[in-house]
Amino acid sequence: MKQSIDTICVQGGWQPKRGEPRQPPIVQSTTFRYETTQQMADLFDLKAPGYFYTRLQNPTNDQVAAKIAALEGGVAAMLTSSGQAASTFAVLNLCSAGDHVVASAQIYGGTFNLFAVSLKKLGIDFTFVDPDAPEDEIAAAFRPETKCLFGETVANPSGCVLDIAKFARIAHSKGVPLIVDNTFATPVLCRPFEFGADIVVHSTTKYMDGHAAQVGGAIVDSGAFDWEAHAARFPGLVEPDPSYHGLSYTKNFGKLAFITKATAQLMRDYGSIPSPFNAFLLNLGLESLHLRIRRHAQSALEVARWLEKRPETAWVEFAGLESSKYHALAQKQFDGGLPCGVMTFGLKGGRDVSVKFMDSLKMIEIVTHVADARSCVLHPASHTHRQLTDEQLRAAGIPPDLIRFSVGLEDPADIIADLEQAFAAMA
Ligand SMILES: Cc1ncc(COP(=O)(O)O)c(C=O)c1O
Repeated sequence: MKQSIDTICVQGGWQPKRGEPRQPPIVQSTTFRYETTQQMADLFDLKAPGYFYTRLQNPTNDQVAAKIAALEGGVAAMLTSSGQAASTFAVLNLCSAGDHVVASAQIYGGTFNLFAVSLKKLGIDFTFVDPDAPEDEIAAAFRPETKCLFGETVANPSGCVLDIAKFARIAHSKGVPLIVDNTFATPVLCRPFEFGADIVVHSTTKYMDGHAAQVGGAIVDSGAFDWEAHAARFPGLVEPDPSYHGLSYTKNFGKLAFITKATAQLMRDYGSIPSPFNAFLLNLGLESLHLRIRRHAQSALEVARWLEKRPETAWVEFAGLESSKYHALAQKQFDGGLPCGVMTFGLKGGRDVSVKFMDSLKMIEIVTHVADARSCVLHPASHTHRQLTDEQLRAAGIPPDLIRFSVGLEDPADIIADLEQAFAAMA
């Protein structure tokens, strides 16, 4: 029976049998018991399913991953110990030294650094494109060795909304999958597979957890990309893997090939598994995600409308606002037309005024985190991007006065009251 997103948030993943706990049990064990050498050997050969060591897989993690797969409408998912690990594995599952990736330039700064610095050191090259550029311009960045296209549904911090259908068309015309970081929108507000994306990654640290309690990530596969049709480009998925006695992921696991390979190779070799306890905390967050994210987004709209009318405000970017250049796209791509609870804005007078304003806030805290229950602000020019000059900031799509505002679950009237007193304190 097909269930709604709200029901999957609450009940997806763990289906207890008679006498079993209603809550997914925390299987806090590294090890699992078998009776014969052969039983264990079959697990090592991927001939039989089963748990043998938590660095590769754990039942609690898998139940939570199954919930996220169902929420995204995918065939399989895996949890990772952070969002960074999810993006790393999604790319490394397709690329090795000498390969190339086209990525939106409007992505989380940590992902940008991962790509432009750390993965580049491994010999993978990246070209960053303006996601709002015409299709032919983005397509021109592809090379014969390009293995995927990468973008972020709602970019952190710029708030830029990715036209997922456009990106999917470009990727598929080049015979490669589209990977989308869906962290900010979450599958409650946007399901990138419905617009043609092939792989979704998440920092579950954000709205999915929702309480700033644990760092985690997830990778979800739609199962729709035909690896065998592009076998020469993706030998790692199609051709025999010598580290598993010549097994082929596509031939042995069909639609589960991508996640099986990422688990069997990358999790085995690099680690990055979350603790089962963190997976349990993540699941508690997911049980109320559908209620929380809609409230975050509604409150953000209310606060954005209020900010837009203030004489002190220079600009506000929130795709839910009619004034946003992403408004029409948001109507098409997001349930209810709202992207998430994060917006950006700048104040008249520029950088110094923005900083003074933030320092005058009382309830809304200045923190690095974003997308959790408590309202918070960040000034990228002073914090995450402080090494950049004003020129470099503008080139990265981050005006020096930009305040990233993550609207929490407090009463919007109290959030507005705090903004109001900060304006008054500066007058
Ligand atoms: C959109 C996005 N993707 C990925 C990440 C990285 O996630 P994590 O901090 O869980 O490693 C972040 C972190 O802020 C993010 O905002």
